[in-house]
Amino acid sequence: MKITIFGCGYVGLVTAACFSQVGNQVICVDNNEKKLKKLKQGVIDIFEPELENILKASIKKKNIEFTNDTAKAVTSSTIIFICVNTPPLENGDADLSKIISVAESIGANINGFKIISTKSTVPVGTSRKIKKTINSCLKAKIKFEVASNPEFLKEGSAVKDFMKPDRIVVGINSNQAKKIFQELYGPFNRNHDKLIFMDIESAELTKYAANTMLASRISLMNELANIAECVGADIEHVRKGIGSDPRIGYNFIYPGCGYGGSCLPKDVKALNMTAKKCGYDAKIIQAVNNVNENQKEVIFNKIMKRFGKIKNKKFAVWGLSFKPNTNDLREAPSKKIIELLKKNGAKVIVYDPISINEFKKEFKDIKSCDSMYEVLNDCDALIINTEWQEFKSPNFKKIKSKLKENLIFDGRNMYDPKIIKKYNIEYHCIGRK
Ligand SMILES: NC(=O)c1ccc[n+]([C@@H]2O[C@H](COP(=O)([O-])OP(=O)(O)OC[C@H]3O[C@@H](n4cnc5c(N)ncnc54)[C@H](O)[C@@H]3O)[C@@H](O)[C@H]2O)c1
Repeated sequence: MKITIFGCGYVGLVTAACFSQVGNQVICVDNNEKKLKKLKQGVIDIFEPELENILKASIKKKNIEFTNDTAKAVTSSTIIFICVNTPPLENGDADLSKIISVAESIGANINGFKIISTKSTVPVGTSRKIKKTINSCLKAKIKFEVASNPEFLKEGSAVKDFMKPDRIVVGINSNQAKKIFQELYGPFNRNHDKLIFMDIESAELTKYAANTMLASRISLMNELANIAECVGADIEHVRKGIGSDPRIGYNFIYPGCGYGGSCLPKDVKALNMTAKKCGYDAKIIQAVNNVNENQKEVIFNKIMKRFGKIKNKKFAVWGLSFKPNTNDLREAPSKKIIELLKKNGAKVIVYDPISINEFKKEFKDIKSCDSMYEVLNDCDALIINTEWQEFKSPNFKKIKSKLKENLIFDGRNMYDPKIIKKYNIEYHCIGRK
């Protein structure tokens, strides 16, 4: 099949790579010239396991092409995916300007029947807006269909998630579109049928419902962790105690210093705005967001409680990305903690296995180190924000020998307090004594 993809970010590139690998002809469009230039050489600026290898192989086989020629991209394919970013506006609503701009390009260039599907996360009603925009740009009467195919990949395992999806949700209006999606996803659907067809509005809402459900579990767990601290319980025991109930399960109930990333925070806020616009007061959804905003300050509050004043104290930070296996720093709790430390006169030095370059784009004045132990030199305490593999079983003797005060603030509950105690390290974590 011939497929066009607008937007070469996490979602667009993974979609393009996976569809091209199974033999489709994919044309990718982006309006970032610098990015396009690199992509043409198979170089990507995001860290995503396997992605670069697949892209390079597809470029070699001529199964994939990168361009800024929207006319060519629109006319070449029957199916067009919109994968541009939908960042939050100040009021929490999703910014659809990029989606609408792509719809205008499609409307201006469409030359025959096409399916135009969103993969971007968009509020309910966006497909209707896309249809209206395309119609308003048409120069002649041309048949086209809009669809919603929300993407559920997780950064860090995006290629694997796309290749072996749990489900493929598609919102469509016709049998013709259904057949095209069945054929397109055939190679990813062999083990058993994972396609779930529904109406477009339900597909759009499904994506927000999934992310809000996941965010709710995290925020509820963080609230329970804060209660555990108040009453002298250990949230890690509680986690195991409730996770063993199959109705609850172990996923997404890890307490920590808050959720981040490009999806959960913005999607929770956007769903709240959708409800608000309908005149519905979504109390749980607002609370999920508020609890998370507070939770991003929990580690900082512990630091202030421990030190009183932090002016000229020096802190080493392990982990910057919002989760392991990605260099994505969007809404990462680390950024909030570092800003608060800086604002209160503390010195900060950071270590992350792969996110330093991204970090430096925003925090030019913060020093970094390329060794997880050297970063500790002359520091008063260590702060952990991301549960990278290499932090899981560190050399505690070495940590102790380098820190001025034997002090760890762990926003991810990575260690067993009993083990840390053996090293005489003072350990502050989430929801545990
Ligand atoms: N990142 C994820 O894990 C993830 C997962 C599922 C869904 N989503 C959703 O998918 C969408 C894209 O997310 P992302 O993380 O891939 O974003 P991204 O910021 O990584 O990539 C978006 C790309 O679109 C390009 N772009 C913007 N306007 C354009 C235009 N008019 N024409 C062509 N290209 C344009 C940008 O230059 C950028 O390369 C968002 O709605 C997001 O919520 C993201």
